[in-house]
Amino acid sequence: MNPKLTIPLPNEHLEKLESDFLYHLGINSKTTNFEKEFGDVKFVCMGGTKNRMFELAKYLQKVLGLRGELVDLCEKAHRYAVFKVGPVLCASHGIGMPSMSILLHEMIKLVSYAKCKDPIFLRIGTSGGVGIPVGTVVVTKDAYNGYIRNEHELAILGERVCRPAKFHEEVYTSLLSCAEPDDDFKTILGNTMAADDFYEGQGRLDGVICEHNEQQKMEFLKKLHNHGVRNIEMEATMFSSLTHHIGIKAGEICVTLVDRLQGDQVTQSNIPKEVLEQRPLTMCGRFIKKHLD
Ligand code: URA
Repeated sequence: MNPKLTIPLPNEHLEKLESDFLYHLGINSKTTNFEKEFGDVKFVCMGGTKNRMFELAKYLQKVLGLRGELVDLCEKAHRYAVFKVGPVLCASHGIGMPSMSILLHEMIKLVSYAKCKDPIFLRIGTSGGVGIPVGTVVVTKDAYNGYIRNEHELAILGERVCRPAKFHEEVYTSLLSCAEPDDDFKTILGNTMAADDFYEGQGRLDGVICEHNEQQKMEFLKKLHNHGVRNIEMEATMFSSLTHHIGIKAGEICVTLVDRLQGDQVTQSNIPKEVLEQRPLTMCGRFIKKHLD
């Protein structure tokens, strides 16, 4: 662990590296001055698609009164898109934990090498709801894996490694307090299940194969509900466990596109998808503005 870093990384091997190439970002510490380029970063916001992160960056420019052309800093690497708006990085992470994990490792190294002070990591996403109206915004408290355990499971050197999957209380409390009485949507605190798959892993009946029936699906969803799970997505356990392990404050805000107790297809709402997807961005903007003020 290098004590000079503001975010000490629990990996002594990194100290022996002469330089570090953040391969999937296309950023090399040999040629980039991390402190100069990224030393002012206070928030790292992540979401699935490049398009959504571009929209977030545009929206944050408005919220923070900033201007300038938005450039994808990682375009050359052809993987993730990263935009910088003042003290905020907006990065796309793709779908699922393997994809997000790579981005997260490299983003955490980036802010650590840049000597950023207490950056907060946020994930802004979409999800399937469990017994709540479509369009509800869920702020995650604890993340559950597909076995309904509050942990993240990873195979390392052939062994099963489990780490607690908890978000930071200060962050989720603060996120919740960003809801306003005039909002035309509800914001709630709930637990989130992170599945390794959109179809069978989320109990859907409409994948190419399915070996369970409607009754078994409903029993599973009700069991999730009894564990306080209010939405299902594909990243929360990895995201919360890695940030928790390192001591980075992190939170997650997702809108629900479907109520899984009503069905599997994402066609239930007559509210346009762009309107639904704007909701977590709005919450994210309020959170950042509040913390900067
Ligand atoms: N994302 C998911 O992972 N599941 C859903 O049902 C909707 C969005």
